[in-house]
Parts: sequence; C-alpha cells; structure tokens
Amino acid sequence: MTADALLSTMLARRSVSPRRLGPPAPSAEQLGLMVDAALRAPDHGRLLPWRLIEFGDAQRAELAQLFEDEKWRRTPDPTPQDIERARAHATQTPTMLAFVVRPESDGKVPVHEQWLAAGAALGQLVLAAHAMGFGAIVLSGERCKDSTLRAALGIAPEETLAGFVSIGTIVSPPPPAARTPRSHVLSSWKP
Ligand SMILES: Cc1cc2nc3c(=O)[nH]c(=O)nc-3n(C[C@H](O)[C@H](O)[C@H](O)COP(=O)(O)O)c2cc1C
Repeated sequence: MTADALLSTMLARRSVSPRRLGPPAPSAEQLGLMVDAALRAPDHGRLLPWRLIEFGDAQRAELAQLFEDEKWRRTPDPTPQDIERARAHATQTPTMLAFVVRPESDGKVPVHEQWLAAGAALGQLVLAAHAMGFGAIVLSGERCKDSTLRAALGIAPEETLAGFVSIGTIVSPPPPAARTPRSHVLSSWKP
C-alpha cells in the first residue's frame, strides 16, 4: 500500500453503529490481524496494559441476559424497548469484544501513560477493522461500571471495563464523518 492509500484509509475511518452492522463477521484470521495491529501501538515498557475478551456466538444469549439483568438493576422501571436495546447490544453485532484496561501501579511507568498506550491500541484495533473493510465502534455506557456484570465477565476489581467493541460487515453505510479542523488541536509554540 502506498503512503497516499494508507493515509486516505486512515482519514476515512469512522465509527459504525451496531445497527448498521451485519454478517459476515471477520474470520478468526482477520480478527487476529486486527489484534496484531493493536499490539503494534506505542506502549511504554511494553506492559500491555489492556486485554480483550471475545464473546463467541454460543455465549451471546448469556451475554444478552447479563445486559438485561444490569438494565433492571440500574433502571427501576425499564420499558420493553429499553430491555430490547440492552439485549440487542449483545446479540446484534457479528463480532463482540470487551476492551479491558489493566494498568500496573508499581510506579515504573506512570498510570496515565499506560492509559494512553491502551487508547492507542484501541485506536489501532478499530483502524485495522476499517482498513480491512469492516465497520467497528466502541461503546461503553453505564453498564461498564456495574460490579455484578464485571464480575460475571471475569474482570478483576483493579481492571477497568473501558467498553465493548462491535465489528462486522457494513450493511447500511453511515453518513461521511465530519472533519474537524486541525487548528482545533495544533498550535505553534511562541516563546
Ligand atoms: C472507550 C470509548 C467508549 C465510548 N463509548 C461510547 C458510548 O457509550 N456511546 C457513544 O455514543 N459513543 C461512545 N464512544 C465514541 C464512539 O466510539 C465514536 O468514537 C464516536 O461516536 C465518534 O465517531 P467517530 O469515531 O466516527 O468519530 C466511545 C469511544 C471510546 C474510545
């Protein structure tokens, strides 16, 4: 791939909502390459302060039940649509991953740098999905803080459930991404 092609791929990346995704899911090989891309993110000390949990097809019904149970715990009187939406997040997406951040706090590498490394890895993961022609999005929400759900997913108290990554084939293309002027983030230092 030329530099121009690589850059235009990067510049066109945008998130794709789970309702715009359908089968086929990435193959195990394709998903593996996305994880490899995430593993190439800058990471001070190569601490790998993150991990992924994949929810296979056979686990989705159970995940949907966990999402529904969490909704009942959080919302005293959920509507049928609230419940359906919670369950759909678990069942709708061809590939469903949890992204877990697990910084070490022994002081060698500051925790904020480990968070940056985890964020960079997450960015590379969704960029690789996009580069391979799939749609992807990271969604968190209140359920990520729920201790019962976290425990059921095997997330340790010192870990953070940063969000769920949905990946699949784009069945309904999203509108083009709005471009942010680079002047919003780039300035020249003037002593
Ligand atoms: C860790 C993380 C959690 C997120 N959680 C949510 C969320 O719960 N709801 C949401 O609308 N967007 C969430 N987002 C933002 C979307 O993934 C997406 O980046 C945003 O809609 C902007 O779209 P874009 O990536 O095409 O610019 C999250 C992003 C990250 C990195």
